[in-house]
Amino acid sequence: SGVITIDPGFKNTGSTTSAITFLDGEKGILRYRGYSIEELAEKSNFLEVAYLLIYGELPDKATYDKFVSDITMHTLVHEDVKKILEGFPSTAHPMGVLSSLVCAQTAFYPASLDPNRSATEVDMSIIRLIAKMPTFAAWSYKNQIGHPVNYPDNNLNYTANFLKMMFATPAEEYEVDPVVANALDKLLILHADHEQNCSTSTVRVVGSSHASMYASISAGINALWGPLHGGANQAVIEMLENIRKDGGDTKKWMAKAKDKNDPFRLMGFGHRVYKNFDPRAKIIKKAADDVLAKLGVKDPVLDIAKGLEEEALNDPYFVERKLYPNVDFYSGIIYRALGIPTDMFTVMFAMGRLPGWIAQWKEMRENKEPIGRPRQVYTGANQRPYVGMDKR
Ligand code: CMC
Repeated sequence: SGVITIDPGFKNTGSTTSAITFLDGEKGILRYRGYSIEELAEKSNFLEVAYLLIYGELPDKATYDKFVSDITMHTLVHEDVKKILEGFPSTAHPMGVLSSLVCAQTAFYPASLDPNRSATEVDMSIIRLIAKMPTFAAWSYKNQIGHPVNYPDNNLNYTANFLKMMFATPAEEYEVDPVVANALDKLLILHADHEQNCSTSTVRVVGSSHASMYASISAGINALWGPLHGGANQAVIEMLENIRKDGGDTKKWMAKAKDKNDPFRLMGFGHRVYKNFDPRAKIIKKAADDVLAKLGVKDPVLDIAKGLEEEALNDPYFVERKLYPNVDFYSGIIYRALGIPTDMFTVMFAMGRLPGWIAQWKEMRENKEPIGRPRQVYTGANQRPYVGMDKR
């Protein structure tokens, strides 16, 4: 019609129809392909959830076994990936390394670039991405601490293999603690998809130009990195640490969060869609208590987090604006108890979100969606003549 509606942040604009994830922000409901997040977190495992998200149904035993064995077979990455990794200074943030290594796969698998790629080629990209992501993630950490990388151990399951690549050193034996592996698996499930969030929309838009799955997901990783999105989990722990060092005065920090002249926000609070509670935060809060108890970890920032939550839930500013703890508020506390360093938190989120990005990319292409190209209303200068440098 020629009429353009401006909706900054796409607060009221739907970009697609989707059959993957159902979310009711008022009621605090989240379901993957119709299955509630609570049930999946309790009864399923990450690779089964990945299959469900990507292919639409829970796999039968033979299909599941094949999916897992295909993934296990592709955990090794091309040896030249190490050279790329070694090019990064140890100061590199692991998220930047991760997105780079994912994008670099376009060089190792050029068939993925073909816009007329076959369904088999798409399936291969899916398997390779899920298989290699933990390897890239663990290697981005090893590069940072200056340790030699560990190769995948295909005798271990998905999360245990990741933990071993992260924490084993040539100097000592490393046994994966099943409590740690299970807690991590649950966290990955909780992060696996969340419909049209910033990073997922990025993946769909990049893919809509028929770019490869690797390039699209690399872009999604970068979108996730920001502190208003996945980067919030790192920002939460840094905030809680600052509050602790500041003497634990939560009231003072609450006042800062409410002060419109202060850019500080209570990290891990608020959500574009959840206006009642974030069902993932509920599960994670309980898991944080369980995991810390099982591991015998006492973390003073957990008490600060609970204190902040209590105050915020009773504070008119937060109540009026419907601001509740989100998925990132307690996840960092668990990651920390599991021994994951703070700047790896968002990498953990990326590992979890990977099947969602893949499922959404695949759905977008199968639906033959047009290229993503929003409109604008121009507000700049009218036409004017060029002025030479000497006249300016
Ligand atoms: N602390 C203080 N005030 C807040 C917060 C907060 N965390 N979040 C929102 N507000 C205020 C905001 O200032 C605004 O107030 P007013 O109406 O007076 O101008 C009102 O609440 C609405 O906020 P908004 O920024 O317009 O809402 P949004 O939907 O654009 O933003 C959000 C959603 C998640 C970016 C935002 O709540 C935020 O910045 N939270 C902190 C960062 C965070 O935890 N992000 C993780 C999100 S969940 C998982 C993920 O995506 O990775």
